[in-house]
Amino acid sequence: MTADNQPILGLHLSPRPDGSSRLLLDRFQKGVIAAGGAMDILAASGRNIEGCRGCGDCYVLGECVIQDDMNIFYEAVAKATRIVVSTPVFFYGVPAIGKAVIDRLQVFWSRIYKLNQKRSFPREPKGMVLAVGATRGKDLFIPIKLCAKYLFDAIGFPRKFPFAGYRRIEEPKDWPLDQLDEVEGYGRAFASDTLDLIDVDNV
Ligand SMILES: Cc1cc2nc3c(=O)[nH]c(=O)nc-3n(C[C@H](O)[C@H](O)[C@H](O)COP(=O)(O)O)c2cc1C
Repeated sequence: MTADNQPILGLHLSPRPDGSSRLLLDRFQKGVIAAGGAMDILAASGRNIEGCRGCGDCYVLGECVIQDDMNIFYEAVAKATRIVVSTPVFFYGVPAIGKAVIDRLQVFWSRIYKLNQKRSFPREPKGMVLAVGATRGKDLFIPIKLCAKYLFDAIGFPRKFPFAGYRRIEEPKDWPLDQLDEVEGYGRAFASDTLDLIDVDNV
């Protein structure tokens, strides 16, 4: 558990339940547990999550009018003060199912920016992002970093966060062991609040 008695929330955004980004998050979780922390993983995969309709009802209601599996994410995000997102790169962005989750979190943005309901947290919230792609493009993670920056802002978290991106991984079997060990180290550091708010983009 973290200091506020809430487990770290791991958001897994791939449509593949057991792919590369899940292994990444599992190893991060192993590090969290090794540091005496706890972490719950919520996966987008296999869920019934409609894309945001842009209807604007949440600007007035502070709630989403769509009733689907997104309710689980709303509850979890509302409680969390530590969130780690793990995503693969799909066409330089977040996969559609994961983007649906992010877009639907607009509800939190509405509460803060439209309804003036500033969030208060039991301690300073912190986010982190893990990403994986199959190619080696220099700019591979730029769109995901930007998307995550505004996602964290929308839910009342700081816009700055540690980021670890891994290239040339198409399948879980492609992971070099030293990179997985590194991610486990990030999990330990995140759980013990010793990971700096720096960009840790690895080649
Ligand atoms: C639809 C689709 C689009 C993809 N687009 C990219 C891309 O733009 N750049 C890249 O490096 N890898 C791309 N990939 C490869 C995945 O990022 C890579 O295989 C990753 O390891 C998958 O993670 P996952 O198993 O957690 O889903 C794409 C894969 C799919 C299925």
